[in-house]
Amino acid sequence: MTMTKKLKVAVLFGGRSGEHDVSLMSARSVISVLDPQKYEVYQVGITLDGNWLTGEDALSAFEAGKTQDLRRVIPPTEPASRQSLFVTRETKSGEKLETLSAIDVFFPVLHGPFGEDGTIQGLLELADCAYVGAGVAGSSVGMDKAIFKDVMRANNIPIVDSIFVSRNEIENNMNDVIAKAEAMGVYPFFTKPANLGSSVGISKCNSRSDLTEGLMDAARYDRRVLIEKGVGNVREVEVSVLGNEEPIASVCGEVLPSREFYSYESKYVDGTSGLIIPSQLSNEITEKIREFAIRAYKAIDCAGMARADFFVEVGTGKIYINELNTLPGFTSISMYPKLWQASGLTYAQLVDKLIELALERKSQRDRTERRRTA
Ligand SMILES: Nc1ncnc2c1ncn2[C@@H]1O[C@H](COP(=O)(O)OP(=O)(O)O)[C@@H](O)[C@H]1O
Ligand SMILES: [Mg+2]
Repeated sequence: MTMTKKLKVAVLFGGRSGEHDVSLMSARSVISVLDPQKYEVYQVGITLDGNWLTGEDALSAFEAGKTQDLRRVIPPTEPASRQSLFVTRETKSGEKLETLSAIDVFFPVLHGPFGEDGTIQGLLELADCAYVGAGVAGSSVGMDKAIFKDVMRANNIPIVDSIFVSRNEIENNMNDVIAKAEAMGVYPFFTKPANLGSSVGISKCNSRSDLTEGLMDAARYDRRVLIEKGVGNVREVEVSVLGNEEPIASVCGEVLPSREFYSYESKYVDGTSGLIIPSQLSNEITEKIREFAIRAYKAIDCAGMARADFFVEVGTGKIYINELNTLPGFTSISMYPKLWQASGLTYAQLVDKLIELALERKSQRDRTERRRTA
């Protein structure tokens, strides 16, 4: 029997975002399929305050809200010595702090700000770590709805008409902002904070007074706010993309929101929004969607995975890309893995593949020369 060294995989969950609890659910599914024959799994939870805690069953402790017995670890901030997993440093006051070190692959199962937006990816790059998913630029462009639209526009991938305005303009020049929005066409409009997810701070505005309210609400969540033309009679179609340099797209799926639009309540409260897999759209439309998804993925330099979300206008059949989620919901019943299942890749195979892609990407990065050589 040959003894191959097991890969040390650290699953990161929780985090400082409104999607903390969603992350715990996704992490539960990931951890349950990581094959103990192949991987040595370390569970690392990040609290809502941003502290990193570990322990054998840290996930259960987070789920139960009983984290007091977990050990505090310091996130890696510099390339590891690769010797021991936890390097202990003693502070002046005598407190012993462990640094997470010599992990082969980090698997951030974190959604939203500080998890999906390039910040944690930047930390892991600094420390020379391999990690699952998109890098710094891909993550942050995927997270920022305004910049994402500019990148799509530059690549001729169709998007809904929109403008973005600053919190300052909303607070000081509301009339101008409303005039700019109304110049795009007729109501409804959607107002959205540029950087957030889970439909938080998003409103559908059917009138000028709705728009005023929607803008003020969105401005609570970000300094920049997007105003978008509403697509009437819309079908919401999603597709999963997987890979690094040569990404592939799954079959398409359709979401049937339980409310007027796919709001926070519809996503997380009602629990009755339906998924149709594969989506019942013409071949022509689904093929276009899959092609746009891959082009968008490459355009933002995504890696690992992303779920690409589209609007299809009933009647005209017009397709618009809405967003790319670089760390989509990842429970075994979430859209992202279900679309792969329908395309012939099981949840466990998907997790293995993502780890493989993380290592491949790291070795690409290691080949890159950082300074001029003769
Ligand atoms: N321009 C639009 N036209 C029609 N519906 C929209 C539009 N923008 C957003 N929506 C609705 O709002 C939901 C949430 O918007 P989205 O941009 O996907 O934000 P999030 O990043 O929070 O998911 C969408 O799934 C859709 O139901
Ligand atoms: Mg969305």
